[in-house]
Amino acid sequence: MKTLITKQEIKKRVKELGQEISRDYSGTVPVFIGVLKGVICFLPDLLRNVELSVEMDFVVISFYHGKKKPGMLIMERGIELDIKNRSVILVDDILDTGNTLSLLIEHVMNKGAKDVSVCVLLKKERKREVNIEPNYVGFSIPDKFVIGYGLDYQERFRNLPFIGVLEDEPNV
Ligand code: IMP
Ligand code: MG
Repeated sequence: MKTLITKQEIKKRVKELGQEISRDYSGTVPVFIGVLKGVICFLPDLLRNVELSVEMDFVVISFYHGKKKPGMLIMERGIELDIKNRSVILVDDILDTGNTLSLLIEHVMNKGAKDVSVCVLLKKERKREVNIEPNYVGFSIPDKFVIGYGLDYQERFRNLPFIGVLEDEPNV
């Protein structure tokens, strides 16, 4: 495994993102919606750097593994807070194809949010299946499979404090 972004670099950048959001949403109480499980490291670190009153909720999205529509996304848990007329900030670990965030933006707008913005720790440089331009991006990275700081390979490595590139299949 090769380190792509160190713990120190993440810490510095997440602080900057928190400060930027604090400035942009000054005078409001935004609702942060995190996408589980990838956001388990990023969202709490980000929120500790946001100097505003905030609310938060989580959604769970997974791949549909059945035969009918392979590759389709399923929302296992939707937003439970009332977000009508609220400013929502969607937070995800990584923007890859764009499918997850486009599904979520639709979900948020259907629930009557006033406005929605998107914050991702990582943005992969690639052609997307759905065009999403996030408002807040931690790092733009090459189109490689990354792990750590919430990101997994087959549910492992989420606890690494840095972002690494997985080069070989782990054998344990
Ligand atoms: P999407 O393709 O933009 O819908 O992203 C879907 C999800 O795939 C992300 O929220 C991540 O959980 C996961 N994902 C995409 N790329 C990677 C990666 O390089 N490593 C680990 N998870 C990834
Ligand atoms: Mg995810």
